[in-house]
Amino acid sequence: MNVVVVVGNPKRGSRTRQAAEMVAQRLTGGQPQSVVELADLGARLLVPGDPDVTMAKQAVLEAELVVFATPTFKATYSGLLKLFLDCFAAGELAGTPAVTLMLGASPRHALAGEHTLKPVLSEIGCSCPAPALFLLESEWESGPELEAWLARAAPAHRIPAPGEHP
Ligand SMILES: Cc1cc2nc3c(=O)[nH]c(=O)nc-3n(C[C@H](O)[C@H](O)[C@H](O)COP(=O)(O)O)c2cc1C
Repeated sequence: MNVVVVVGNPKRGSRTRQAAEMVAQRLTGGQPQSVVELADLGARLLVPGDPDVTMAKQAVLEAELVVFATPTFKATYSGLLKLFLDCFAAGELAGTPAVTLMLGASPRHALAGEHTLKPVLSEIGCSCPAPALFLLESEWESGPELEAWLARAAPAHRIPAPGEHP
């Protein structure tokens, strides 16, 4: 399965990235085909036709599943991720299943993915059948949220449950 992880943290090699790769692996049973670190693109996301941005877009367009991962900043997703999402036309990702993952410091913003990120993904055409996943930065590796989410997300994406991967 061609899974692409998009990391919207302005810091490279973040926990957000590690968590996104873990989520992709736990959900699909395999490693993602590629990881787009938006921090590597930075201000080039504002340059029309930048070749690396075009390549990143192409990877997402070809994906069978995209994991959009971002830290929570001021109760929403990062501005860096917004710059990348703005590179897609309305409906351009039609039919592409997507998963949203937000890392945050406070459970007060646990629904930020549902309320802020999913509507943008819907506008550019993604389908997000699973609940938005929010992981606390203090327990992203071991909290109970991930297991409960996997139990809902796997059937929503028609992926065999953990242990049923061939
Ligand atoms: C500028 C800024 C704003 C933040 N705003 C929030 C917030 O509104 N809600 C929240 O839960 N965490 C907030 N945080 C905490 C980050 O979401 C958290 O530290 C980050 O997701 C950890 O991911 P990382 O280790 O990959 O950087 C904020 C952090 C920064 C630096």
